[in-house]
Amino acid sequence: TPIAILISGTGSNMQALIKHSTTHPESSYQVKLVISNKADALGLIKAQEAGIMTKVIMRLVKEISQRMVMKAIFNIVIDHRKFKVRESFDREIDTLLLENNIEIICLAGFMRLLSGWMVQKWHGKILNIHPSLLPSFKGVNAPKQALNAGVKVTGCTVHFVVEEMDDGAIIEQRSVRIETTDDVSTLQYRIKLAEHQIYPTALDQVAKGLASLDDKENKVVWN
Ligand code: GRF
Repeated sequence: TPIAILISGTGSNMQALIKHSTTHPESSYQVKLVISNKADALGLIKAQEAGIMTKVIMRLVKEISQRMVMKAIFNIVIDHRKFKVRESFDREIDTLLLENNIEIICLAGFMRLLSGWMVQKWHGKILNIHPSLLPSFKGVNAPKQALNAGVKVTGCTVHFVVEEMDDGAIIEQRSVRIETTDDVSTLQYRIKLAEHQIYPTALDQVAKGLASLDDKENKVVWN
């Protein structure tokens, strides 16, 4: 199953997904494309090193220099004026996905909300990883939210993407204990290690058709 990964940042989950598919011959997915909405996302370099086609889609290109860097490295410049509305940005992504015969999209630190149009079009085909045990601590800075709440256990969640943020049916979770010595960065680090374990296997189950999103209800169907 050809998949695409959407990133905005460091791309450690992206790396884990690539690594799993290349080191497990029985893996049922193949990372074909990495799309970033930021030209300077570290993950893009890692993806290129892994020999995966990368594309940058910028919503707002503020600096000319940045635009030139993009042109040089990625040979694709997308006029920001095209993206006054969220949906046209998503349509650009959608076109890229179709051109590359992508069947599943994995969000991995992609810091943009997808439009309703996109989410409906790709119903049951978009996965996300979130650094908490959902439904607790939705939104940004989930590890910090967990620390502030004083909980002793948090973790990470792989879920299907629906229109409401961090609200889709849960495919897999892993818990991480919070130590009294933890700060945001130490906790985040251990959560990421757990993420790298569960994201590839959860994706594999979806790619194999073992887990799917129900057509009507926000529930996972296990086959
Ligand atoms: C991860 O913690 C993920 O849960 C969240 O964004 C972070 C991305 O990290 N959605 P990375 O870019 O995969 O290292």
